[in-house]
Amino acid sequence: MPSISEVFRILLMISCCVCILFTGGCGESEDNDPDEMLTIMEDPIHSYASYPIGVAIDSPHMLDDDIYYRSLATHHHNSATPGNDMKMDALHPDENSYSWDNAEEILDFCNQHEMRVHGHVLVWHQQVPSWMEEYEGTPEEWEAILKDHIQTIITHFAGSVDSWDVVNEAFEENGQLRHTIWRDNIGDDYIAKCFQWAREAGPSIKLFYNDFSLSYNAQKMQAVLEMIDDFRSRDPEIPIDGIGFQMHISDDQPLNEYIQAAVDSVKSRDLLIHFSELDVSLNKFGLYSELTEEMKIRQKERYSDIVQIYNTIPRDQQFGITIWGISDADSWIRYCFNRLDWPLLFDEEFEPKPAFWGFVTSL
Ligand code: G3I
Repeated sequence: MPSISEVFRILLMISCCVCILFTGGCGESEDNDPDEMLTIMEDPIHSYASYPIGVAIDSPHMLDDDIYYRSLATHHHNSATPGNDMKMDALHPDENSYSWDNAEEILDFCNQHEMRVHGHVLVWHQQVPSWMEEYEGTPEEWEAILKDHIQTIITHFAGSVDSWDVVNEAFEENGQLRHTIWRDNIGDDYIAKCFQWAREAGPSIKLFYNDFSLSYNAQKMQAVLEMIDDFRSRDPEIPIDGIGFQMHISDDQPLNEYIQAAVDSVKSRDLLIHFSELDVSLNKFGLYSELTEEMKIRQKERYSDIVQIYNTIPRDQQFGITIWGISDADSWIRYCFNRLDWPLLFDEEFEPKPAFWGFVTSL
């Protein structure tokens, strides 16, 4: 019976061999030196970065023992975000019971492979368990439920999960607070309360607000900045350590200048910055049925630009870049929007795309 470390070594070797084989036919662009590319594939992506490189992972792949998935996840990344297994419905399916197994499986896997785990997500208006959606109670009872949810989870994972997306997507595109069951039952200050409860349960845990479109929607970004400034102006201050820019972007939108401006506005507030769910859609209107060479190159440049923007952030504010999946076949875009797309660094066969080279050579 091989030991865990032997199994890991075998997986790693397989991963390297797979990767090296793949470089022969991966559609790499002509401007890359093949020898240099081989070396890059053998080395983990994260070894080129001075900040963590993360990936979203889901328990079904772990449970299915998908060797390519597992190998690429562990070989190239030193951070992971559970894509679904730490959401409200996954962890808290019934009012009086929690379900830890799938999340624990991910944690074990990450611990074995020395990958940091970023918790996602304590409070979000999607993937909410039905008992919570249907709950009827006073504002105090709603607060008790949410406080218990946040503090039970943070406490359960203490020592293994040192950072959390506390609240996700609380603002509408016009910068107004989104109507959610918590806002509607607890009041507008529910976000501040969530951060306070999280800090009580985990005094040293890094607490993030996470959202999409912050990199191009100035109105929404402004609303988030005002929330941060409000948190900091209170006595005592409401704790917040970082902002997650989801970065579900496309090959042509948003413009780099917009992303840079949004990042700069958070930089100046001395917060951690996480590009928390990066992917680059190539088919946002569903017009294309195949991935062309020209699209691959556009995507490569886009991934390169994003890394270069991230590199402008001071090191002590760089929480890392997390890519929202491994192969195009697993991308949430395909099954959530039911459209063909190729947003990730590896294709359906787990072969690195030009995007891979754009990403890694800019780190
Ligand atoms: O678990 C069920 C499974 O039992 C069933 O067989 C299968 C059939 O479709 O569905 C499975 O649930 C799916 C779940 O992902 C797990 O794969 C849901 O249908 C599907 O809606 C869900 O999508 C997730 C999505 O959030 C939900 O909004 C994606 O995987 C996940 O990547 C995505 O992640 C979000 C971030 O949390 C927040 N930011 C946006 C990002 C993309 O939407």
